[in-house]
Amino acid sequence: MSDAATVLERCAALGEISEQGFLLRRFGTEAMRRANELVGGWMREAGLEVRIDPLGNLIGRLGDGDRTLMLGSHLDTVRDAGRYDGPLGVLVALAAVERLGEPLPFAIEVVGFADEEGVRFGTAYLGSAAVAGRFQVEWLGLHDDDGVALAQLLEQDPAAAARDPADLLGYVEVHIEQGPVLERLGEPVGVVTAIAGQSHATVRFAGEAGHAGTVPMDARRDALAAAAEWVLAVEAAGRPGLVATVGRLEVDPGARNVIPGAATLTLDLRHPDDDERGAAVAALRGQAERIASARGMELEWEDAGWEAVAMDERLTALLGEGLPRLPSGAGHDAAMMASITPAAMLFVRCRGGISHNPAESVEEADVAVAIDVLERFLHAV
Ligand code: HGY
Ligand code: MN
Ligand code: MN
Repeated sequence: MSDAATVLERCAALGEISEQGFLLRRFGTEAMRRANELVGGWMREAGLEVRIDPLGNLIGRLGDGDRTLMLGSHLDTVRDAGRYDGPLGVLVALAAVERLGEPLPFAIEVVGFADEEGVRFGTAYLGSAAVAGRFQVEWLGLHDDDGVALAQLLEQDPAAAARDPADLLGYVEVHIEQGPVLERLGEPVGVVTAIAGQSHATVRFAGEAGHAGTVPMDARRDALAAAAEWVLAVEAAGRPGLVATVGRLEVDPGARNVIPGAATLTLDLRHPDDDERGAAVAALRGQAERIASARGMELEWEDAGWEAVAMDERLTALLGEGLPRLPSGAGHDAAMMASITPAAMLFVRCRGGISHNPAESVEEADVAVAIDVLERFLHAV
C-alpha cells in the first residue's frame, strides 16, 4: 500500500473513534483517549518515543539533537465532523517521518494536539496555546454543557506543557484547505501566507418569559425575536475579508407555548486585519445593545479573540518555491505555535472546499504530494 493510502486508511480508522454515532471527539473524553492510543501506537511502530504532555497533547519524538522541529495538527473534532480536519496533518507528518532513513541533526516531534476546535469549553487552540505558553488560568474554571470544569480533566498543571522557544527549530502543519481555492486553481497543495484573526462572543438577550396564548403582541419582551434581529445584523456585517457566523442559539425556557425569556448566541467573526475585526465586533455589539434597549431588554456580552498571524517566510519557502500561496480563514494550531517558533503550513486540496462536515474529502494523489513536500522539507531545513 502507498504511504498516502496508509494515511487515508488511518484517517478512516480514527474517524470511527467517536463519542456519538456521528464523528465527535472532544477534549478530555474517552474517545480522545482512544484516538491518542491508536495514533500513539502508530508512532511507536515508527520508532518514535511517545508521551502525553500535561495538557493532554500526544507527542511522538524521534532522534536527538539540541533543537526540535515540531510537526502536527489536532486530533479533536467539531460536531458531526469530517475525517481529515486535524488528523490528516498528524498522519501526513508521521508518514514523512517514517520515510526518514538517516537520523537528522535535530530531533523531530509529531504532535496531535488535544483540543483545537474548542467544542467542549467554547475555547480555541487549547492544546497549542498551552504548548505556546499562552494557557490562561481562567480557562480552568470553564464548564462544559454537563457542568464539568476544565480543571477536573487535568491531572497536571497545563502551564507545564509550555515549550522553551530556544529548544525549537520551527513548527510545520499540514491541513486540508477547507476552502475552494486549490480546487479552482487545479493544484494539489499550497502554502499558507497568514491565518486570519478570530473573535468569539457569547451574547445573551434577557427579556421576559410569558404565556404564548395570553400576552398581547405589543406587551411582549421576546428574547428570541431580539436575537433573530441581531442574527440578521451579523449576516449583513459580512463583506469581502470579513466572515461572521452565529453557530449556536439556546432559547430559555424553550417551549412551544412560552414566550422566550432569554436567548443566548455565539458569534464567530474573522478578518485578516485585527483592527478591522475589532471595529466589526464593536459595531455588532452596538447593534445588539440598540436592539435590546429598543425592546426593553438586558444584554450580556462576553468576548475573546485571537490575533491574525503571518507564517514564517523562510520555512514557507523551504516547503516549496512556486507553490500557490493562500491565506487561511480557518484557525490552526500554527497560529499559536507561531508565537514561540517560526511556523509554516501546507494546505491540501479538498473536494468542493467542504469541511466541518462529514462529506470532507481528499484525494490520495494529493495526500501523496503533501507527504513528498514534507519529506523534502525535512531534508532541506
Ligand atoms: O474554527 C476553526 O477555524 C477551526 O477549524 N479550528
Ligand atoms: Mn476545524
Ligand atoms: Mn483543523
